[in-house]
Amino acid sequence: MDGEKMVKSARNKTIDFDLAHAPAGVVAKIKTADDDLSTRSAVLDQSINGDSFAVLPQLPDRLADLALVDPPYNLNKQYDELNFKHLADVDYQDFTQRWVDALKPKLTPTASLYVFSDWQTSIAIAPILAQNFIIKNRITWQREKGRGAKTNWKNGLEDIWFLTLNAKKYTFNVDQVKQRRQVIAPYRENGQAKDWQETAAGRFRDTMPSNFWDDISIPYWSMPENTGHPTQKPEKLLAKTILASSNPGDLILDPFAGAGSSLVTAKKLGRHYVGIEQSKLYTAWGIYRLMRADHDQSIQGYQDGVFWERNTGALQRANKRHK
Ligand SMILES: C[S@@+](CC[C@H](N)C(=O)[O-])C[C@H]1O[C@@H](n2cnc3c(N)ncnc32)[C@H](O)[C@@H]1O
Repeated sequence: MDGEKMVKSARNKTIDFDLAHAPAGVVAKIKTADDDLSTRSAVLDQSINGDSFAVLPQLPDRLADLALVDPPYNLNKQYDELNFKHLADVDYQDFTQRWVDALKPKLTPTASLYVFSDWQTSIAIAPILAQNFIIKNRITWQREKGRGAKTNWKNGLEDIWFLTLNAKKYTFNVDQVKQRRQVIAPYRENGQAKDWQETAAGRFRDTMPSNFWDDISIPYWSMPENTGHPTQKPEKLLAKTILASSNPGDLILDPFAGAGSSLVTAKKLGRHYVGIEQSKLYTAWGIYRLMRADHDQSIQGYQDGVFWERNTGALQRANKRHK
């Protein structure tokens, strides 16, 4: 391949432009720590390129109704020009306490947070989260994809910590995050469907959401949301957190915004957002996605106000046709 350029398949939708080839208008929208970030109107619906530890103190207090926090896990990982190195547990705890201290004043008193981690990182951060917030739940995301290991079980799970500032006063819209499942054994009473619906597209039951999420895949190359970011979160996953724990018009803050997945999902669901990301390139990818969300508010796997199981694209299309 010397001197040759790899040609992407036409079906590969990955957003991976470099800054010199960013689509028109993208780079001009990037905010930095040099901008005025001191008022709500100055930062509303903005993506800020900078170090969160420097940027968060510049934001107004009591800004956000929900924080989605997806920090580097305690692993060796390259994030554009940042080489994050695995730390001793105490040092990772110190890193966690530092972002907690910077973030907490920026939350409203009834705000919620979701904090993402893998199982090893969770062991270190759980006591820090417990000291600073009310732990409401630990969600297990069965993400399917993972690298096989010869001497250990493949890691196919992630933890999502659901936290609040107030034990009783917080938003939780359980009816907006129901999961639509196909009914395998349709039970009838007096000839009537019991707890399920017969539709032209099939037989379904809308079930209450649990803390085990097995309906969400990691974004891959043929999905329009996919970018070159090494650890991008799926919009479907973020949609669950946003719909459950915020209301339309609320503001969502993401201090480790990566390729902007939470910001884009917030916009698609009618929420405001503020994102902070140290990489200018990832910030640009996120802004490009935000611009595209002006024309396309779809979230793969979320349709008709419910979350669909994996690999049910054909059923979802049939459901849409029969509406
Ligand atoms: C796990 S990734 C987040 C991915 C994001 N949720 C997404 O879906 O694209 C963590 C991100 O934090 C960024 N980061 C690490 N340290 C940071 C800091 N001090 N300030 C701002 N961003 C930082 C990394 O560049 C990386 O993009």
